[in-house]
Amino acid sequence: MAHPQLVFSGMQPTNVLHLGNYLGALKNWVKLQDEMPCLYCVVDMHAITQDTGYRHPKELAAATREVTAAYIAAGVNPNKSILFNQSRVAEHAELAWVFNCVGRLGWLDRMTQFKEKTGKHKERASVGLYTYPLLMAADILAYKGTHVPVGEDQRQHLELSRDIAQKFNSDYEVPDFFPLPEPVITGAATRVMSLRDGTKKMSKSDESDYSRINLTDDTDTIAQKIRKARTDPNPLPDSEEGLEGRPEAENLINIYAALADENRASIVARFAGRQFSEFKNELADLSVAKLQPIAAEMRRLLADPAEIDRILVSGAEKARALAAPIMAEVKQIVGFVS
Ligand code: TRP
Repeated sequence: MAHPQLVFSGMQPTNVLHLGNYLGALKNWVKLQDEMPCLYCVVDMHAITQDTGYRHPKELAAATREVTAAYIAAGVNPNKSILFNQSRVAEHAELAWVFNCVGRLGWLDRMTQFKEKTGKHKERASVGLYTYPLLMAADILAYKGTHVPVGEDQRQHLELSRDIAQKFNSDYEVPDFFPLPEPVITGAATRVMSLRDGTKKMSKSDESDYSRINLTDDTDTIAQKIRKARTDPNPLPDSEEGLEGRPEAENLINIYAALADENRASIVARFAGRQFSEFKNELADLSVAKLQPIAAEMRRLLADPAEIDRILVSGAEKARALAAPIMAEVKQIVGFVS
């Protein structure tokens, strides 16, 4: 039996959304809205797995609203897609508990992101950070989600979601109860790297603000960051192969192509042999043209937080209507008397 197609994705609330979040995630989410029903979640429960999330309750609330505003400003339509914050729909936590009992320690021990995040100090990490991938599986499977647009860094977590779905289905002898969710990994061209180091991902946690373009940066800041972006001394290559071994050039070309919605080959051809200074001027203009409307819309939305809250409340009601019957079935399958 084929499960009906359903998209689920989420992002942690942070108040520094950047170009990487837009090109790597949001832009694809917006496109998927025309293809199948979509749920887009602000995963505030995931945010408290690390100190940065729970130490500042007011900041967490503000970041949740800010990310919601960014989703909408980027083109997520709350009348078409279900847009909500995770903690409002209790089924996520309920199903996560069941998955805590389905998942195996050995599976979680293999998660590279946990190792990267905790380094040598595993014993000081929260248990929530460790079981994070099980909550993520619950996010998706609470709706029987089938398609999950995520970046390459989430591939392993998604494989774990498939393992969980499979083990639940087989342990409880309910073949095909949960679908095995598929990653919709966005292409390499939308993997946005740091403007200071083309081998590192653009990240909110990079110390240098010049490494990223924030969605709320003003025109001058965007132009300046692009002008100062690291490059090598050679002119731009005349073929895509010429980008090999030149991570900064490749990153800027990728950004241009993604923002312009054109393929990389045609951008390389257009700027073949030109100097970075010229190319950067055009990239700055393009970035400003594409990002300013988003920044302006975010500001407009954030001026009325009550409206954002109304959108989240109504999204959560719709989400709950989908998750509740699935969770009721899970309880019955597991043998919880209810
Ligand atoms: N772990 C994801 C990230 O850090 C966020 C996330 C939480 C998510 N739950 C999800 C993504 C469910 C997709 C589906 O990017």
